[in-house]
Amino acid sequence: MPATILVGAQWGDEGKGRVADWLAAQSDVVARFAGGDNAGHTVYVGDNLFKLHMIPSGILHEQVTCVLGNGMVINPVNLVKEMDGLQTMGVDISPDRLIISTRAHIITPAHIALDAASEKARGAGAIGTTLRGIGPAYLDKTGRQGIRTGLMAQEEAFADALYEMVRRTNDILVKQYGAETLDPQKAAEDYLAAAIRLRPYLRDVSVYLNQRMNTGARVLCEGAQGTLLDVDHGDYPFVTSSSPTSGGALTGLGFGPRRVDRIVGVAKSFSTRVGSGPMVTELHGELGDRLRGTGEHFWDEYGTTTGRPRRCGWLDTVALRYAAQVNGFTEIVLTKLDVLSGFDELKVASAYMIDGRQVDFPPDTVMELERAEPVYETLPGWSEDIGRARRGDDLPQAVRNYIQRVADLCGVPVRTVSVGPERDQLVHF
Ligand code: GDP
Ligand code: IMO
Ligand code: MG
Repeated sequence: MPATILVGAQWGDEGKGRVADWLAAQSDVVARFAGGDNAGHTVYVGDNLFKLHMIPSGILHEQVTCVLGNGMVINPVNLVKEMDGLQTMGVDISPDRLIISTRAHIITPAHIALDAASEKARGAGAIGTTLRGIGPAYLDKTGRQGIRTGLMAQEEAFADALYEMVRRTNDILVKQYGAETLDPQKAAEDYLAAAIRLRPYLRDVSVYLNQRMNTGARVLCEGAQGTLLDVDHGDYPFVTSSSPTSGGALTGLGFGPRRVDRIVGVAKSFSTRVGSGPMVTELHGELGDRLRGTGEHFWDEYGTTTGRPRRCGWLDTVALRYAAQVNGFTEIVLTKLDVLSGFDELKVASAYMIDGRQVDFPPDTVMELERAEPVYETLPGWSEDIGRARRGDDLPQAVRNYIQRVADLCGVPVRTVSVGPERDQLVHF
């Protein structure tokens, strides 16, 4: 059976977790392929609120086997905590439900300390990372001096590698950043305990996935982050250090492009961004506050991983059009439409003006992007509460117009929209 790839079309937090939860119901395997616990995917099932960081949202469906792919960076101590948290909520986390690639990379305490130290050193130019050690872990991976998850199977070698990495980093922390040192012995002990727990879950993910697909399994690749945070295609340097786009799913899991027949882009019906970097449609003041919410609901725009308030603004279809191109979306899911109820009119950026020139795609550099002004189309708003809509006909005409205009501006059909955070609050077209 062919595979489906689901990716974030904006700057992360588009609602990928809840959309993956819907698609997981029709899948046998759900696999994460990039990032680590910088991700925070929220799934709301009845009265239970799940916040997933490394484990795919598919874990909430009994028939699904979940996979952590080689493209990920994994903090074993935090992974064990996440597994325990899910177990407490009644979720089965046995090794036949969860597989960890032997080729992913380990995030060590050294990476976390380096993330904090380098952000501090950047001062006003800080990226606003999640401080989970993501960038430094990928740096060691590409620098060919990282520790791979497979080493967790060899106790002594793993503890030695951990000890050595922390010891080596202490030198950098002191000399380059004037930061405090870490205890290599404690790091090795904490990580060894987690490694022993995780050992039964280790496996060659590429072999596993290809075998499952050969025998008809349906695989869903659950992206983290978003296209504009991609290290190649995003707003460099205000990006994460991985490839969260559809191409990253292939390298991050180990199968070929001919396996894929559906690429789902998840987009929020307005824009949000957490951390630094350009955001052409950002709204300050009352309108931005209204989109963010008051913090009263769990879906208000405060980070799932870090609790930081998200920057909010109107929908940017220049970014979305670009995401459709980079990923090859076959369809878009538009989330959080219910949040747009009650605005007299809605704006959507259809192009940018940069130095007197109109452009339909983002420019190459953030310097140009910072000078970009949005060209807005104004669409009529709606006042109805749409949370109970389940069919296209249940939606007011103004909502359907908004959806259709977004599809036209991106050149990709919107096949599904969400009108609330609960499992059944979806409308399919
Ligand atoms: P992800 O990182 O892409 O999985 O997204 P997050 O979970 O970080 O953020 C999305 C937030 O929006 C979560 O709190 C979701 O429960 C919430 N959410 C998702 N879809 C909808 C929707 O249609 N309406 C509302 N009100 N909230 C939603
Ligand atoms: P999900 O999967 C939103 C952002 C950070 C920062 C930049 C780099 O929940 O959509 P990093 O810690 O990765 O080095 O930070 O990327 N970022 C996210 N923003 N959602 C995420 O994940 C993110 N993961 C990273 O805020 O701007
Ligand atoms: Mg999130």
